[in-house]
Amino acid sequence: MYIDTHTHLYEEQLNIDEREMIQRAIDAGVSKMYMPNCDSTTIDAMMRIAGTWPANCYPMMGLHPCYVKDNYKDELAIVTDWLAKEKFYAIGEIGLDYYWDLTHTAQQKEAFAYQIDLALQYNLPIVIHSRESTQDCIDMVRSKQNGKLNGIFHCFGGTIEEAKQIIDLGFCMGIGGVVTFKKSNLPDVIKEVGLSNIVLETDAPYLAPMPYRGKRNESAYVPLIAEKIGDAMQISKEEIARITTANAEKLFGV
Ligand code: NI
Repeated sequence: MYIDTHTHLYEEQLNIDEREMIQRAIDAGVSKMYMPNCDSTTIDAMMRIAGTWPANCYPMMGLHPCYVKDNYKDELAIVTDWLAKEKFYAIGEIGLDYYWDLTHTAQQKEAFAYQIDLALQYNLPIVIHSRESTQDCIDMVRSKQNGKLNGIFHCFGGTIEEAKQIIDLGFCMGIGGVVTFKKSNLPDVIKEVGLSNIVLETDAPYLAPMPYRGKRNESAYVPLIAEKIGDAMQISKEEIARITTANAEKLFGV
């Protein structure tokens, strides 16, 4: 059994064949899918999917750093309201993005810190988006780590040194389709640090693994990621499934 710890099932590209897509994932052994939120515009579709597949699809709540704009305080108020009235399985996705736009970096940091405090208040894990900002995200987590904070550096793409810092903080790294790309250093990083803090994800509909690179991604492709990690470590994909599922279940408290 696999867990997709990060999949945007509510995205428009996935709506077209939603029922079949989710069934394909379940048939492929990916029986649990965790959905990170983006902003107030994605909540209704996410909650509808969570309500339709309550045993398979689990919602998170949060404001994605790429959606931190001038109205971010209103958006954070919406996040805060939802947390008070519904069950969510993590705060996410939250963090810093230095790749797309640096206009709102200060506001991104403020939103990140505020949402980590919400996670501590609700005793929830956090799912971190750290594009081109891994070290700053690590430093933010370290400044807030009181022994109770846990979570995932989603779509981890950092160095061995950064991976070791993440493990020291008690956090996991989400590994997705990028690990299957020819020039990826991720197989070497994982070989070096081991599987104890690794969870699997797709980040669907983005970043499809080989041989689907460049096409629409979906949760059913998680076993391809496990297979690649297994090849790198000379162990079976079933063993990768067992270890990464246990890591994810521990993290999400199931
Ligand atoms: Ni994402």
